[in-house]
Amino acid sequence: MNSLNIRLPDDFHVHLRQGPAMAAYAATTARRFGRFMAMPNVTPPLTGPAALADYSRAVAAAVAASGYAATPLACFKLTPGMGREAVFSCAAAGAVAGKYYPAGATTNSSDGVPEPSAVAEELTAMQEAGLVLSIHGEDPSAPALERERAFLGVVDSIVGSYPRLRVALEHLSCAESVRAVLAWPERVAATITAHHLSFTIDDLLGGSLRPELFCKPVLKSAADRAALLEAAVSGSPRFFFGSDSAPHQPEAKAAGAAGCYTAPVALSLLAAAFEEAGALDRLEAFVSVSGARFYGLGPNPGVLRLRRESWTVPASVDGAVPPAAGRTLAWAAERA
Ligand code: DOR
Ligand code: ZN
Repeated sequence: MNSLNIRLPDDFHVHLRQGPAMAAYAATTARRFGRFMAMPNVTPPLTGPAALADYSRAVAAAVAASGYAATPLACFKLTPGMGREAVFSCAAAGAVAGKYYPAGATTNSSDGVPEPSAVAEELTAMQEAGLVLSIHGEDPSAPALERERAFLGVVDSIVGSYPRLRVALEHLSCAESVRAVLAWPERVAATITAHHLSFTIDDLLGGSLRPELFCKPVLKSAADRAALLEAAVSGSPRFFFGSDSAPHQPEAKAAGAAGCYTAPVALSLLAAAFEEAGALDRLEAFVSVSGARFYGLGPNPGVLRLRRESWTVPASVDGAVPPAAGRTLAWAAERA
């Protein structure tokens, strides 16, 4: 197959940051995604309706200026003490999800959740409001490669304690998580990134260190990657795309920041991974159908065209180094 048209995809997990670089990051995402959910770990954080509404307006303006028709989706940051009224106000301000960052697990998460009981009131309100609980599933006190597995018990307790809460476990990175998701009820789903489907820890540090592949959760083994790919191509509605595209400017990367800026390359990486699995015909379900269904959204208008065409990934896009920078990819993606 040399070309493939799919319904315009969605990205249910993307970091657009704040400040001057935000507009460029938003445009790079809007170019290929019909909808995208902007993560709330900006500074200051999106922990209440006013901040959320201001940020949503700024993102919408950046998308409008990009010239691409795309719809941003809003997500607030769940913090202890936020209170139930703030949860309902965030929903009224357009939030479709609230993000649970274990305190200290990743970029800008020191104000996150120490344990689920610290946000019991807020989780009850989210369940009542029909909001999706989006979870960064890592225990920061566990060894780096075991953090996701170590957090599965916490997710299990949340799933059990809030029987109507819809949960999206973000950026799965290991085989145990795939098995856990399948064992939970159908109201629990998971996102998988293009980088976890394409690379392993050996790509990150098996040769020269490639900081552009350093993210949280850290890339894992070939067996873990195979389990993730199997889940993504399975056609199961429980697994869908969230890029976790997380740009950092070179100074931040040099200081060790975690995040892969995949927005410019994600669809090319996905096409290659699905082709490797002999499952290009399932790509549309993964990027354009299952996530929308989980979030109760209709199909995007518009079409994305994937072409088999070699292109070399630039050394830098929007000031950040994307994964596969300087390398040749086999698939190109543009709106049809
Ligand atoms: O690698 C990551 N970068 N993982 C996250 O969870 C957050 C993100 C960021 O905001 O930089
Ligand atoms: Zn993220």
